Amino acid sequence: MFTLRLLSQAFLAFFLALVLVFSGCETQDKTREPATTAQTQESSPATQATEQTTATQPDQAGSAKKGKFLYFANCIACHNTDPTKAGSVGPAISDSSKELLTLKVTQGTYPAGYQPKRTTKLMPPLPNLKAGIPFLHAFLNP
Ligand code: HEC
Repeated sequence: MFTLRLLSQAFLAFFLALVLVFSGCETQDKTREPATTAQTQESSPATQATEQTTATQPDQAGSAKKGKFLYFANCIACHNTDPTKAGSVGPAISDSSKELLTLKVTQGTYPAGYQPKRTTKLMPPLPNLKAGIPFLHAFLNP
């Protein structure tokens, strides 16, 4: 009885290891290409700068995609998953200018003369997202 249980446990462990190995290979294969592209884009600030200055049609889609990722990871706790609509806590923020995004997201302030949609100061500044502003801007201004 004991041996049988031990055996079945060993088999289970072996089976799980197999599953892990195979699923590991699979995800690596699937993500290899996009991961490499993302890495080269992210690892080089020079490339990023060029991307921003020459931000025209071809890069718009890629930037918006990154922006969507950042938006879903950092903003939808309060803003709507559809940025044209008000969220649970925050207002609609589609069409936000780059200046507004930079100031509100990194410092919690607004551009001079800008009339904020809300007078509250509930949103915490997220200064670590500074480098992601151009992407958020691309996503919010399709
Ligand atoms: C904790 C909730 C919360 C999170 C997370 C959050 N916001 Fe906000 N946001 C708000 C609230 C609430 C307001 C309204 C002003 C205030 O109270 O600060 C706001 C206002 C804004 C405004 C100004 C809108 C206007 O025109 O007046 C922008 C732009 C904005 N958020 C962008 C973002 C972005 C981009 C992210 C993600 C990187 C984000 N917010 C994450 C709650 C949040």
